[in-house]
Amino acid sequence: MKAILINIIYLSIISSCFAQSPDWSSEATLSGGDEKMSPNHRANIFEYSQDQLGEKIEAGKKHALFYPVTVSDLLIPYAPLKKFFESDPKDPVRKMIFDLTKMASPFKSMDEIYGWLGLHHYPQASQAEAPYPLPDLTEEQKALPMGATLMETPDGMALTFGCAACHSSDLFGVKVLGLTNRFPRANEFFRYGKILSPYVNSFLFKDLLQTTEGERQMLVRIKKTTKSVGVLAPQALGLDTSLSQVALSLARREKDPYATRTARAAHFPRSSWLDKHRADSKPAVWWNVKYKTRWLSDGSIISGNPVHTNFLWNEIGRGTDLKKLETWLVENKQTIDDLTAAVFGAKAPRYEAFFGDHSIDIEKAKRGQKHFIQSCQKCHGVYEKNWDQSNSEQIHPSQLVKNSKIWYHKKTPVKDVGTDPGRYLGMKAFADDLNRLQISKSMGTVVQAQTGYVPPPLEGIWSRYPYFHNNSIPNLCALLTPAKLRPKKYWMGPAENKETDYDQECAGYPLAEKTPQHWKENKNYLYDTSADGLSNSGHDERIFIKDGVEIYTQTERFELIEFLKTL
Ligand code: HEC
Ligand code: HEC
Repeated sequence: MKAILINIIYLSIISSCFAQSPDWSSEATLSGGDEKMSPNHRANIFEYSQDQLGEKIEAGKKHALFYPVTVSDLLIPYAPLKKFFESDPKDPVRKMIFDLTKMASPFKSMDEIYGWLGLHHYPQASQAEAPYPLPDLTEEQKALPMGATLMETPDGMALTFGCAACHSSDLFGVKVLGLTNRFPRANEFFRYGKILSPYVNSFLFKDLLQTTEGERQMLVRIKKTTKSVGVLAPQALGLDTSLSQVALSLARREKDPYATRTARAAHFPRSSWLDKHRADSKPAVWWNVKYKTRWLSDGSIISGNPVHTNFLWNEIGRGTDLKKLETWLVENKQTIDDLTAAVFGAKAPRYEAFFGDHSIDIEKAKRGQKHFIQSCQKCHGVYEKNWDQSNSEQIHPSQLVKNSKIWYHKKTPVKDVGTDPGRYLGMKAFADDLNRLQISKSMGTVVQAQTGYVPPPLEGIWSRYPYFHNNSIPNLCALLTPAKLRPKKYWMGPAENKETDYDQECAGYPLAEKTPQHWKENKNYLYDTSADGLSNSGHDERIFIKDGVEIYTQTERFELIEFLKTL
């Protein structure tokens, strides 16, 4: 008996020291609840003790800001880049390169490059509204915008980009890690790199920019590597073409288990469905990951740690040697685990923290909750509110709007509700290429193409506009409008001013005469649903339309939106 007791104590000490290995298999389900839904989530994916969890997440957040992969093959020599772009626009080398490529160089400083890339300055003060605080950084680290990474390499200082370049956002002045970057330009940056690099003679580059031999070598590698990379500009600002970039890059490498890079494969790419079709999607929010058992907008990663997939995709898109990446992943397990802990631990921003304690009309939201239960929860999950608690009288009024418990599917579903098929069809076109890779096998990643998309958990939905995987819906009023009557074009813009840049009634972009005038002066801010992959179809019939007739009156629709704002 005593021995058993000691064993139990011993085991409980051990288990509080070491990370649990999560169930990454396709059989994974959330625990508890009834046969369909679970009140639990995996915010503490490795089941660390509370002290450890904080430490691991802090480390993981830093990896999200500063890209950790050192075997990346597209590392940009930082000093020459800075010198090049900060040189006089009439500088002969600079002028020659841009004349040759028929491109204009708009940049006069690195700061302008970062701004164009959509990167945000690291906040100088602490942010009360952010539920998921940013990590403690040194002054030097804080000086870099979020996602920009300067890496010491044997060849000199290199510039690259981390997760936060796509997965952090400026929400009315508050920097939110885990929220979709509204205007990322990472894909375009690589596309320019690929267009420009053949024109740059590495020796001329060395002479004129007085680079070191190491920096020249970096350039030589870029010139070589970009040949094995397929690039594509997104159809609309705010979307990302990573999926296509990975598919088109694999088509430029050999078909063997390591997708070996050869000059032949780079020169004669295999044809792909994605040569002619679009599969753009927006970077996903991180706080949903803890509720799910399969990953990506179409739920096509049915097994394996989603963070592995992100490294793999990022690196194929950067032309990296997959044997080197495989070794890196094994040797840097702690980095991956910490980043994984941070992604699963992410938290959603709350509406009332931004708009004030009285910004939600609770009675109206309670009426909206009934519509939600009737029409939405079977796909999007159950959101129990503090106002539903039996002791709600004792709860402080400012806390009543909060969720007390979220129930999501034990096993994440995929539903086809008629939204644009481009993104899920894109996965059908190259799932086999991903599964064939040895690195997928050694990481336990399995891709299974799907028909439809995951109905995402709706926590923090007010902040995630524009909606759907392809950003085709500007606000919740448009989402709850029959597809054929939704806006065919709309203007987007940065979230700077809560009064003018956000429609509080409709939760999302202000439309028509409410659109800020200066957004219309930037043609990149126009979203046109007639373009391939940008359709705003679906998610109406059998959801809030029955046999062609809308279920809800205008008043009820606003009640539902009021409830959605509290999630
Ligand atoms: C170039 C932009 C970009 C970068 C950089 C990037 N991501 Fe993503 N990420 C995306 C896009 C786009 C999606 C959604 C793709 C889809 O499912 O259609 C996504 C999806 C995800 C998901 C899946 C979420 C879900 O709900 O299933 C996770 C997790 C994730 N990213 C983590 C990371 C991590 C960790 C890094 C850094 C190693 C990273 N991402 C870097 C663009 C990016
Ligand atoms: C049959 C399942 C189903 C039902 C019922 C349903 N949805 Fe959805 N919903 C989806 C799917 C699937 C998506 C993802 C579509 C996409 O991205 O292309 C989605 C997307 C959304 C989004 C956008 C999420 C984002 O991150 O952009 C919102 C908001 C939403 N639904 C609200 C609702 C509301 C409100 C109701 C009830 C009136 C509802 N849904 C009912 C399946 C459903």
